[in-house]
Amino acid sequence: MSIYNQIISENQAWIDGIFAKLDQKLSRVAVKSRDKIPYTVENGVHNSCTDPDHPRGITWWTNGFWGGLMWLMYEATKNEEYLTTAKNAEVIMDGALKQFEKLHHDVGFMWHIMSGAAYRLTGDKASRTRALYAAATLAGRYNLSGGFIRAWNGKDQAGWTIIDCLMNIPLLYWASREIGDDRYAQIAMAHADMALRDHVRYDGSSVHICCHDTATGELVATRGGQGYCEGSCWSRGIGWGIYGFVLSYIHTGKEEYLEASKRLAHYYIANIAADDYLPRVDFRAPLDPERYDSSAGAICACGLIELAKHVPEEEKRMYLSAAIKSLKAMEKWYDWSDENDSVLQMSTGAYNNEIHVNYIYGDYFLTEAILKLKGSEFLPW
Ligand code: GLY
Repeated sequence: MSIYNQIISENQAWIDGIFAKLDQKLSRVAVKSRDKIPYTVENGVHNSCTDPDHPRGITWWTNGFWGGLMWLMYEATKNEEYLTTAKNAEVIMDGALKQFEKLHHDVGFMWHIMSGAAYRLTGDKASRTRALYAAATLAGRYNLSGGFIRAWNGKDQAGWTIIDCLMNIPLLYWASREIGDDRYAQIAMAHADMALRDHVRYDGSSVHICCHDTATGELVATRGGQGYCEGSCWSRGIGWGIYGFVLSYIHTGKEEYLEASKRLAHYYIANIAADDYLPRVDFRAPLDPERYDSSAGAICACGLIELAKHVPEEEKRMYLSAAIKSLKAMEKWYDWSDENDSVLQMSTGAYNNEIHVNYIYGDYFLTEAILKLKGSEFLPW
């Protein structure tokens, strides 16, 4: 038996038990929150980015995760309640696709795992069109002379890139294959090359924000972004890097992306090992106050499990074991009660903002990680 399968079989009962609890809870919430685009919970109840007074609104970067989560669960169970909610979420989100000026690079997060997944699972041509519109929007943010995809729309942010974008570019690899034209994949690879150069430090830690000269692409400054400070290492950022680079490797076969993912993974594993496999918000922040980000743990687990699948036999154990240990360590943060619409507690938006809350993407990545461990071959990215 391969080392990968051996580790899975040693943990099979735990994996199956967690998945059964996820299905029990999410099948209920799928119906209860059917007309929402959840972001977080208030008094245990999902709020919705469609609410008129919601601070985030319909174009918020997390708004594809609810549909994406429903597609993950539908693919795994074939329960039609998930299918109905997934399709509904996509239609609600058409309201965002129409607001061109408010869109940003996170259209990859938003439509790849929602409409892209819908098309791949059902063949729905309307879903394919939505995902291709999103891909064109993302490609349109490419700075040709700088060789990067612009992240946000702020007045002084034309040269800004963020490590998170590594999760957006799989939409471009997919779109290139879909339309039979390399242009989008070329943009994705140019951006990944920039990220490898500017967002990954030599020791395997990561930079959240890089500011570039828009004419030359030269790196002029870095910022701490959602982490502790300039020069620190935001744990969700390293998660976007670990998972994002291994995805670029899967889509392109370029070894340097696999190596980048490994380098980030080594820094991540070394840090969580010092904290009983629980992810702090930033690995270069003071130990007090004690702040964690469970969403980072779930995202990194997804990346580590994919890494374990793509490295040679002798290397698999470190990545797969670290992912499982971390998912098990975080079990004290899983809420299976009916009083709370979300499962994963203790996520944090940024070092100093929205500390220890629950996010829809936490539940999404926890579910994706558990499905990977269960042997699902459906890769939504
Ligand atoms: N992509 C934004 C975040 O991770 O918070």
